Amino acid sequence: MKILFIGDVYMERGREAFDRFFPVVKQEYKPHLIIVNGENIANGNGLTEAIYKDYLSRGVHIFTLGNHAFSRKDALSVLDEDYVIRPANYGPGTPGKGAITYRFNEQSITIINLLGRVFMHDPIDNPFTKMDELLKDISSDFIVVDFHAEATSEKYAMANYLDGRVSALIGTHTHVPTADECVFPKGMLYISDVGMTGVRYSVIGGNIQQAIRKFITGVPERVHPEKEGPLQFNAVCLDLTNNKIQRINLTD
Ligand SMILES: [Fe+2]
Ligand SMILES: [Fe+2]
Repeated sequence: MKILFIGDVYMERGREAFDRFFPVVKQEYKPHLIIVNGENIANGNGLTEAIYKDYLSRGVHIFTLGNHAFSRKDALSVLDEDYVIRPANYGPGTPGKGAITYRFNEQSITIINLLGRVFMHDPIDNPFTKMDELLKDISSDFIVVDFHAEATSEKYAMANYLDGRVSALIGTHTHVPTADECVFPKGMLYISDVGMTGVRYSVIGGNIQQAIRKFITGVPERVHPEKEGPLQFNAVCLDLTNNKIQRINLTD
């Protein structure tokens, strides 16, 4: 069972990078299951119905989200779709679902989306105890978690907490790929962050001049995406049968 997991596709130019690199990567790695973190995929963040349908028709199986899951006015309709998951540790009654079980031939795989709390401001449930709760009811052959979190300390604590209990823990959210992909002692595949798919030179996808201005003045501004420059595509290939993780970092 081979999975291609593509890191946060960032707005219009992220979709352009996806169009450019995805067919080549799909052809080369021949994954059985393709997961895209789509929390920033629509302009203005979040995921739209139109993008969801388009990407599924091109071979994507599942969208995970993150702290921007509810950023769009039309978020609720897309959260109802069968193959979209938002972080599982929002409180009871939150629209959408935090996990999905996918069957491939004779095997089952559960994908979970989870949100971190360190340096994040969402009033969400504890991701560690939420995982305990979720794992009680899951008996799939494989379990893959997209841990959407800012701090590497929280990611490594979660990795040690889940090693031996899930097949892979994949970090997203920082938009910066890390080079720490590894197999944990009890066999869990891990990377702190897959990185983003979008403009290569930007401030984690945002406009460079605007970001510098904000840091100099301290005045808050709504982030505008960087539109110029070459593209990058960041993903990981998880070979769950042979227990291997491989980083895929492509640029123009
Ligand atoms: Fe993101
Ligand atoms: Fe995020």
